[in-house]
Amino acid sequence: MSFSSNEQLISEPVSPEEGSFDFASMAQGMPGVPLSFTWRDTEYRVSKILETRKSLRSCHSGSNEKYVNKHFFKIETETGEIMTLYRTRSGSKKDNWTLYTIENRPQQPSDTAPMRIAVLVSGGGSNLQSLISAQVSGAQCGYEIALVIADREDTHAIERAKKHGIATALALPPKDVPRAEARLAISDRVLDLAREYGADALVFAGFLTIMSGKVISEYSNRIVNIHPALLPKFGGKGMWGHHVHEAVLAAGEAESGCTVHLVDDGCDTGPILIQRRVPVLVDDTVDTLAARILEEEHIAIVEGVSVLATRLAGKI
Ligand code: GRF
Repeated sequence: MSFSSNEQLISEPVSPEEGSFDFASMAQGMPGVPLSFTWRDTEYRVSKILETRKSLRSCHSGSNEKYVNKHFFKIETETGEIMTLYRTRSGSKKDNWTLYTIENRPQQPSDTAPMRIAVLVSGGGSNLQSLISAQVSGAQCGYEIALVIADREDTHAIERAKKHGIATALALPPKDVPRAEARLAISDRVLDLAREYGADALVFAGFLTIMSGKVISEYSNRIVNIHPALLPKFGGKGMWGHHVHEAVLAAGEAESGCTVHLVDDGCDTGPILIQRRVPVLVDDTVDTLAARILEEEHIAIVEGVSVLATRLAGKI
């Protein structure tokens, strides 16, 4: 099976998410492509099936009959990658899915420039610190912090940014307005600031305002959030800070961790970029579990933002 010169050969296995198969294809007698799968620890979701084809092989018996060897699916992901997957099946064993190729994106002049990010914070800013430290260490992390925005006054996070000479701004809720209106005002202010500072992406690093309005669509697939649990478990409304860890302990989970994901218009529902896991220990309290996870968050946030930078630069 050949592939074109603008495609990069990958040929690595992917893990389909159970229950995510495309039933429309299956109804037409085709194998259902997994609409959500993980490759190299990153979750991809299919937004479009662009093309399907089969490769045929002669039977080993020497007869002229042919059988379908591989089913190929060219797909587009929600984050814009064009990928070709194929399915192989051996006897009665379960299907294997392979990422065959990824289409190279056209090179932009800005591809070599780091992705400019606005980091949004509400508290201590230890995740922000991790992003700053990776940037100043000179590691090839692919991003540059253009601005730090807080939704409240006197956060330690803002102090951390100032100490490193990074621009800061506030997006405060207007007083005496309903919560939805306050959220929209903060969101619109964030969008204005992001445009003013030329931010390519937004990073919510312990940011507690749920965003709404134009910023979500204008920065679609360019907003990163960190959540202190293994989404999709223990996410959604009311699941923040210690509430998350309380719920994990109450459910008797054997493990927890953190998730870096893209933000969509739901709450903690967007495509996952990176997850890191920790065991839940028998004598864990909310505080000990939170501290163990926070250490992993510090690694995951840098990795997750770097993954987005790589994607936006069209390198994968
Ligand atoms: C982290 O646990 C993050 O997951 C949660 O808030 C905390 C922020 O910590 N949403 P910091 O402000 O980065 O220290």
